[in-house]
Amino acid sequence: MPARIIGTGSALPEKVVSNQDLEKLMDTTDEWIKSRTGIEKRHIAVTETTTSMAVEAAVRAMEDAGAAAEEIDLIIVGTVSGDMCFPSTACQIQSAIKASNATAFDINAACAGFLFGLSIADAYMKSGAAKTALVVGAETLSKMMNWEDRGTCVLFGDGAGAAVVRSEEAGIISMVQGSDGARGNALVCHNREVNNPYVKNSCALDYTSMDGQAVYKFAVKTVPLAIMQALDQAGVSADQVKYFILHQANIRIIEAVAKKMSQPIEKFPTNLQECGNISAGSVPILLDFVNKEGKLNKGDKIVLAGFGAGLTWGAAVLTW
Ligand code: UT7
Repeated sequence: MPARIIGTGSALPEKVVSNQDLEKLMDTTDEWIKSRTGIEKRHIAVTETTTSMAVEAAVRAMEDAGAAAEEIDLIIVGTVSGDMCFPSTACQIQSAIKASNATAFDINAACAGFLFGLSIADAYMKSGAAKTALVVGAETLSKMMNWEDRGTCVLFGDGAGAAVVRSEEAGIISMVQGSDGARGNALVCHNREVNNPYVKNSCALDYTSMDGQAVYKFAVKTVPLAIMQALDQAGVSADQVKYFILHQANIRIIEAVAKKMSQPIEKFPTNLQECGNISAGSVPILLDFVNKEGKLNKGDKIVLAGFGAGLTWGAAVLTW
C-alpha cells in the first residue's frame, strides 16, 4: 500500500531578519530582494540547530498525526546542513523522540530532499518494509552562507518541516524524480578538503556559491515537466489539483510554473515572503502551514515539487 501523509509539523528559529535588517549589513536593498525574489524576511538560527528544529517539527507532526514514537519504524531526513557528519540527524531525532523501533538515515538531495525522502518512504511501504515513517526536511543554511556575498545570503533561511506517513489504501499516487549531475556546478558547497599526514590543506570549510540564472532556467523548465509527468502517471489533471506546493526559492519561478501549467496562481500557496529558501525544509514547512490553516480536506489532490542542487528535482501527486 502507498504512503499517506497523516500529520505535519514545522519549526522555525525565533530570530526574524528582514530585508531592511540586511540593508544594514551589506550593499543590498529591500526593493532588490523583493522584486527579484519575493522574499521579505527569513528566520535565522541563533540558539536553534538543525537537529533541535528537526526534533520539534517531528514531535509536532506526530502530535498532528496522533502517532506514538514506538509506531515509527522509519525516519528519513533530507538535509545538507546536519549538525554532525555522524550520527545522522535522523538518528539524533530517533534518540530524542525515543523511536527505538525505527531505521533512521539522512539523504542529500538538497532542495528536493523532502521529495526524495517521501519516495523512499513510499517504496518501503509498498514493499512492506515499513508502516509508519517520519519524513523530515531540516536545514540551518545560514551557517553555509558567505555573509559578504549578497547574491546568495539574502535568499536563504533556516527551519525544519516534517510529515508522518503511514501505509494506507490512498496516499501518494505517483512520484517523479530526476538528477543531472553534469550541471551540478550551478549550485555548490564544498566539504572539507583532504587533510592527513600525507596532504596538508587548510581544512577551511567552503560557503555556498550559485549561478542563479542557470538554476532559475533549470527550474522553470524542469519543474513544470516533472509535475506534468507525475500528473500524467497519476491520471489526474492539473485542474483537479487543489494546491501545488512548490519549493520556495523565488516567487518568479512559482509564477512561471503556474503560467506554464495554465493554472491560477491562487493554487500555489507561498511562504517564501517570511521564510526565504529553506532547501529541504521548504516543501514540508509550507505543507504544514497550509495544513494548519485548515485548507486541506480528505480526498483533495495535492502536488508537491522540489528542485535544487545536484541538480535534483522531484514531484509527487497525492490524495490528502
Ligand atoms: O533552491 C534552489 C536554488 N536557487 C534558486 O532557485 C535560485 C534561482 N535563481 C534566482 O532566483 C535568481 O537568479 C536570483 C534571485 C538569485 C538573482 O536574480 P537575477 O535577476 O538572476 O539577478 P543577477 O544574478 O543577474 O544579478 C543582477 C544584478 C547584478 O548586478 P549587475 O552585475 O547587473 O550590476 C548583481 O550584482 O543584481 C546584483 N545583485 C544584487 N543587488 C542588490 C545580486 N544580489 C544582489 C542583492 N542586492 N542582494
